Amino acid sequence: MAYTVSPLAFAYDALEPYIDARTVEIHHDKHHVTYATRLSDAVAKHPELATKSVEQLLSDLSAVPEDIRTAVRNHGGGHANHELYWLTIGPKGGGEPGGKIGDAIKAKWGGFEAFKEVMSAASVNQFGSGWGWLVVRNGELEVYSSLNQDSPLSQGDKPVLTCDVWEHAYYLHYQNLRPKYVEAWWSVVNWSKVDELYQAAIA
Ligand SMILES: [Fe+2]
Repeated sequence: MAYTVSPLAFAYDALEPYIDARTVEIHHDKHHVTYATRLSDAVAKHPELATKSVEQLLSDLSAVPEDIRTAVRNHGGGHANHELYWLTIGPKGGGEPGGKIGDAIKAKWGGFEAFKEVMSAASVNQFGSGWGWLVVRNGELEVYSSLNQDSPLSQGDKPVLTCDVWEHAYYLHYQNLRPKYVEAWWSVVNWSKVDELYQAAIA
């Protein structure tokens, strides 16, 4: 299967001033596209995998042939993680979540601000390149970070929100100031989409 990157649902400059247009363009059109291309190249070596979605591959890495397992973990993770990242941000984002996800966050952390601190800390403190995650595990919300392009799908979790903390996500505008980028990222989170993903994950 040729894995393709979904087009952005917004213009490159639509996330300004929180995430700058040049970063969005390079991040989506170059970094993300490269992950999808390299995943496609790896999977092409095994025609029996031609019908597998990237989610199916990541959900059972042990079933992926050993010669392409690392490539699927890195480039497949890179593709799937970025798909979720773009899906859950947008120009009319930010604020506090309503819906079932808002209720679940309040039930788990006592309030949105407490959750925000936990998710920000996971993202900011991830050593080196990686991701901050809000996932559903056994019907419960959990927050953690992952290294490189490791996907929560590979440990059986269902991701509903993610913050990309690779330097390519922020360095042009924020340089080394990852905490400032993470704080700005909250202003573009598309909570109605996160709620949709959460409801699907607990169904
Ligand atoms: Fe990225």
